[in-house]
Amino acid sequence: MSAPIAGVLSNLERVLLNSDLIQRRVAEMALQIEKDYAGGDISVVALMDGAIFFVADLLRRISLPVQVHTLSVGSYHGGTSSTGRIEMLPKLPFVLNGRRVLLIDDILDTGLTLGTVRDRILEECQPESLRVAVLLDKNRPRIREVPVDYVGFEIADEFVVGYGMDYKGHYRNLPCIGILNPTHIES
Ligand code: IMP
Ligand code: MG
Repeated sequence: MSAPIAGVLSNLERVLLNSDLIQRRVAEMALQIEKDYAGGDISVVALMDGAIFFVADLLRRISLPVQVHTLSVGSYHGGTSSTGRIEMLPKLPFVLNGRRVLLIDDILDTGLTLGTVRDRILEECQPESLRVAVLLDKNRPRIREVPVDYVGFEIADEFVVGYGMDYKGHYRNLPCIGILNPTHIES
């Protein structure tokens, strides 16, 4: 491990999912998605910034034609739990009419983010189909139930960082996913 990453790693209380495990699961998910979409193409909507590494790794393992759109959505606003306020553009910046859409996020927590974006795509874009993929499914009561088609890992209700997920903009570049040491969380 290179020195700068090792320094950031020491801010973790523990590693929940190591890089090998994540990569193996992402490869399995890609295979499944390829099978399900065989013979056609996929229009991906990737929620930024959290899904950035998951989407990059997943899509590079898919050999079907893929169109990639990104959408910036925020709900944590610097804390360790959802504020319930979803911030995104007033109008979706892409055309998905008649497309097979795969909506991808890093983690399903309260369900507000994916639920809101899913509704918006269905209302504004009339896709042929809409499926949802997440790397992590947090085991907690949802504020909104969201039908999810692909899940990487189910995890306990804890705040995680790494592999795209951040605390105040930090830790996204960790190759693993872990729990922050509480001394590194501002109270
Ligand atoms: P939801 O709207 O509550 O389902 O939250 C989804 C969004 O919150 C995700 O897109 C993540 O960006 C962020 N999020 C949820 N849980 C965590 C976490 O444990 N660590 C970092 N970000 C998280
Ligand atoms: Mg997010």
